[in-house]
Amino acid sequence: MSRAPDFQAVFGGAPEVVGEAPGRVNLLGEHTDYNDGFVLPIAIPQRTRVALRRAAADAGRPRAGNDAHRLHAAELGAEVRFGMDDLPQEQFARYVYGCLVQAQGAGAVVPPLDIHVASDVPMGVGLSSSAALEVATLRALRSLLGLALDDVQIAQLAQRAEIEQAGVRCGILDQMACSLADTRRALLLDTRSLERRFVDLPEGSQVLVIDSGTPRSLAESGYNQRRAECEQAAALLGVASLRDVRDGQGLQGLPEPLLRRVRHVVTENARVLQAVDAPSALDFGDLMNASHDSLRDDYEVSTPALDRLVEVLRQQPAVYGARLTGAGFGGACVALCRAGEAVETADAVLQAYAAAGGAGRLLVPPPAA
Ligand code: GLA
Repeated sequence: MSRAPDFQAVFGGAPEVVGEAPGRVNLLGEHTDYNDGFVLPIAIPQRTRVALRRAAADAGRPRAGNDAHRLHAAELGAEVRFGMDDLPQEQFARYVYGCLVQAQGAGAVVPPLDIHVASDVPMGVGLSSSAALEVATLRALRSLLGLALDDVQIAQLAQRAEIEQAGVRCGILDQMACSLADTRRALLLDTRSLERRFVDLPEGSQVLVIDSGTPRSLAESGYNQRRAECEQAAALLGVASLRDVRDGQGLQGLPEPLLRRVRHVVTENARVLQAVDAPSALDFGDLMNASHDSLRDDYEVSTPALDRLVEVLRQQPAVYGARLTGAGFGGACVALCRAGEAVETADAVLQAYAAAGGAGRLLVPPPAA
């Protein structure tokens, strides 16, 4: 996973428990989760591992106050100490802190901890490195403290940690995916009822993810603005959420850009449901292409770099369809491609993308170390 110092090297002993969770890539259903809609993620092979043990007393005195927890993040080469009453400055530590706070809120008595995080989930590209960290932390706490939490409850606590302590007003897509998804089949999730089932990828296809090499600038402000627009549109349409809008229903009266935002959500929900009706790889790819076009034109969360990378992906003979994935505004693109041809396709894509001025990198399948 990484060559950075492990738990033993940092804390001079073995952990008591280890919790793990994968990152995820969303195949279809973007910006639908906070509208109570449908999503279709799949887990990626890269994982986050959180190792824990109860902290030993320091010079005979139990660690306490803002020194209670010692957190080491191997890939970041960063170490933070914090207590339960002070929100850490560092964003990565806030995710862990949030999980401890939420576990406490659910009735756990959290002792002072030594915490070690190791991860090969790519960060900041839309593959849910933060949700993987939250779910892995909560799984480790569940084992250490014997908490009676199932995987859905873990996802719900993780989402609350992200909203309340990390300050990101996300939906439940990422945490449910990191807690429940599988790398071989996609997870169809109704984010309103949390009903879910696994769905096979179209026969003869595999997932390819390439980073555009551009940071997700404006992701937070743009994301919050889109959420607010959706809430405003739902209020104007007199529905609890945009999930309840039927195609074409009374939309003509909506002002722009609300009309386009609603159109994206309504058509995107329909695309997810079409995609699970066992379409061919070609049909699935068409739905991904339509999703990207809708995110670009109606939802306006794409960027010139993402559009360029999607174009390059679509030009490859082995690619059935491609789109931006995650919140947008930068980060990675996902494609469905002919099984067994992802690596050579990625080579061709990266070359063509470089010729167009981009600096991308292959993320899934994970390049051999
Ligand atoms: C981010 C959020 C998710 C979801 C996606 C967009 O990943 O964390 O809840 O809204 O954006 O589909």
